[in-house]
Amino acid sequence: MDKLMAQQQLSTRHLLGIKNLTREDIELIFHTAQSFKHIINRPVKKTPSLRDITIANLFFEHSTRTRISFELAEKRLSADVINFSAASSSVKKGETLLDTVNNILSMKVDMVVIRHPAPGAPHFLARHINAHIINAGDGTHEHPTQALLDAFSIREKLGTLQGKRIAIFGDILHSRVALSNILCLRKLGAQVRVCGPPTLIPKHIDALGVEVSYDVRASLRWCDVANVLRIQLERQHIKYFPSLREYSQYFGIHKALLDELDKPILIMHPGPINRGVEITSDVADSEHSIILDQVENGVAIRMAVLYLLASHRRL
Ligand code: CP
Repeated sequence: MDKLMAQQQLSTRHLLGIKNLTREDIELIFHTAQSFKHIINRPVKKTPSLRDITIANLFFEHSTRTRISFELAEKRLSADVINFSAASSSVKKGETLLDTVNNILSMKVDMVVIRHPAPGAPHFLARHINAHIINAGDGTHEHPTQALLDAFSIREKLGTLQGKRIAIFGDILHSRVALSNILCLRKLGAQVRVCGPPTLIPKHIDALGVEVSYDVRASLRWCDVANVLRIQLERQHIKYFPSLREYSQYFGIHKALLDELDKPILIMHPGPINRGVEITSDVADSEHSIILDQVENGVAIRMAVLYLLASHRRL
């Protein structure tokens, strides 16, 4: 596998967002992830690929899936791993982001995985430090590895993204997953629609090449895949809808809506799920759901990204 991959590399030395990737980059990540998926399903799950690489995971915002998935991916690749959580660090004593990262880098770190509430924080680091930077979610901006694992999971089930219809439901306004998904899916030839209350859909989002709908029933009929997003109450400082109960009633995905469909549909959710708000348990746990496949594929996708960036040479 190493011989095959050595013939190709990404066009970028950081993963800051899907915006900076070409379609060929995405195809290379998928191809590499497919090989890693075979490896992590073997009895011996580790490869020595990143044996001499040290990676710092810097999480300035809460995370379950992304943090664990990156750490597992790094360990499967035999990298040395440092975990940093802002809540228990000297950030609480007033240390700046750049000072924090420079101190960590002086301990000879090669790659930085960063989640930060400020949009652009990974881009700032990429301009100021020499390590490879991977964006693990920056505020409401981008979450590129989530979009890659989502698109990879759809392709695994449907064979291709070309011409497929993907509807993204919910809080589009505050969602880094929505933006990264739209950019990734459009690059791979999918048709994309966003659906939610008008207050949670950004003005001019159609400029990204997506359709806009406020009709959940019609959008479920339209799509091959429904990607349901969480209502991000922690980022909502004003009221965007009257109550969670009303949101669930008018914009939630529930079993009766799926039962009306006379066609197959895939249900996705990036997690964490607000059960009973944007999606009911009988949908999240139904035979249509590929939510846990998304989580499984996240490890292989992150292994691929880490591996390809570590082997990147300046062109
Ligand atoms: N999907 C996702 O980013 O989940 P976490 O916030 O738990 O990492």
